[in-house]
Amino acid sequence: MNATIRKCLIAFYSRKGQNIVGGRIADLKVGNTEVVANMIQTKAGGDTFHIESVTGYPEDYVETTEVARKELHSKARPKLTGRIENMESYDVIFLGFPIWWGTMPMPVYTFLESYDFSGKTIVPFCTHEGSGMGQSEQEIIKACPKATIMEGIAIRGASASSADPRLSSWIGKLGIL
Ligand SMILES: Cc1cc2nc3c(=O)[nH]c(=O)nc-3n(C[C@H](O)[C@H](O)[C@H](O)COP(=O)(O)O)c2cc1C
Repeated sequence: MNATIRKCLIAFYSRKGQNIVGGRIADLKVGNTEVVANMIQTKAGGDTFHIESVTGYPEDYVETTEVARKELHSKARPKLTGRIENMESYDVIFLGFPIWWGTMPMPVYTFLESYDFSGKTIVPFCTHEGSGMGQSEQEIIKACPKATIMEGIAIRGASASSADPRLSSWIGKLGIL
């Protein structure tokens, strides 16, 4: 019997609609990060939670980049639409987000500052257009100093739907499940 079954949460921010994919504007019916989050859930099991801000973002890509830039510079903490009531029951939190201006969207900062992650394991994953993980891992360490932060995985948005083999090998190497 395995006495240490680790309960997983896959929490992610992802914005469907107009975005930049492979250098071109595309209209995403499902956001890239959500595609990857669903693949991780299939492999790791556990619950998913879609981090969403009350105000949301414009449908238009360029307008969204402007709103996001202002939020980053003002260190905004947008109010979220939902809350996880049983965070204490999760040991491992896969945390997913698109890279915005070299780091996480501000709703992810709100999420990280809304709970006590002491003693938990956070596993970051992102989708991006060239920045890789950017500053995100350092920012997560800063926000959750008492959590263990594992090495994350960065997937190009255009490769989200074919990320399955990379995700399998990454999850295997993490050795935490
Ligand atoms: C506001 C905004 C800012 C972005 N900034 C970056 C960036 O700094 N570096 C990067 O590689 N990609 C950047 N991107 C591209 C996204 O990270 C990429 O399209 C991602 O796959 C979108 O994921 P989603 O569909 O889950 O929201 C940005 C996109 C948006 C909308």
